[in-house]
Amino acid sequence: MMVMAVVNLKGGSSKTTSSAFLAHALAERGGGDVLLVDADPQGSAARWASLAEWELPVIELAHRDLHRRLPGIVGDRYSTIVIDTPPMEDHRGIVISAMRAAGVVAVTLAPTMIELDRLPPVWSALDEVAAVREAPPAVAALLTRTVPRAASTGVVRDVVVSGGHRVLDAMVPRRESYAQAYGAPVVVGPHYRAVAEELLTLGAAA
Ligand SMILES: Nc1ncnc2c1ncn2[C@@H]1O[C@H](COP(=O)(O)OP(=O)(O)OP(=O)(O)O)[C@@H](O)[C@H]1O
Ligand SMILES: [Mg+2]
Repeated sequence: MMVMAVVNLKGGSSKTTSSAFLAHALAERGGGDVLLVDADPQGSAARWASLAEWELPVIELAHRDLHRRLPGIVGDRYSTIVIDTPPMEDHRGIVISAMRAAGVVAVTLAPTMIELDRLPPVWSALDEVAAVREAPPAVAALLTRTVPRAASTGVVRDVVVSGGHRVLDAMVPRRESYAQAYGAPVVVGPHYRAVAEELLTLGAAA
């Protein structure tokens, strides 16, 4: 079983959108059952699932001991679990717990200086988690809401990489279809398909 957590310090950094599309991309890819865990007390992912009547199963588990509870709740029914988390600045305990449960952590951000500036607390939290785990999770930044040909995308990628962190090759452009996706059935395109493949590869190598 592979567990992927989608995290960031701030709200509105496309965690829920990415979790939803990633989980659906993994499910469409086949090779086992996929579960989305909504660890945000706001319950946006669970609400989206019920509004759109997803076939993909979603459970709500917004707890600071998620990493202890999850194995007992899911058993061995799922091949892959995606955890949507709340903003770390509001619910640090829950996000740390999701990081402790995960084999792969995706840190979503738009390629802007302001979002770049908010990454250090996330790296610190991941260092904390790595210190208490035998096998720390594989970690990668996921650039979302990118704009075609914007120089900032390359700049932000280089800064993250030069800080010693991984950035996925796959990126998700800013699109109206993603902005309006909430509450509707999820139609997976090439972007999140590529994100899913890369995260699976990272997880397998970790
Ligand atoms: N690729 C994209 N293109 C355009 N808009 C996007 C994209 N990804 C996300 N959005 C929009 O950005 C906003 C924030 O996204 P989302 O709700 O997924 O973030 P979040 O990190 O889960 O927020 P919160 O911390 O409040 O749960 C939403 O309005 C969403 O539709
Ligand atoms: Mg959210």
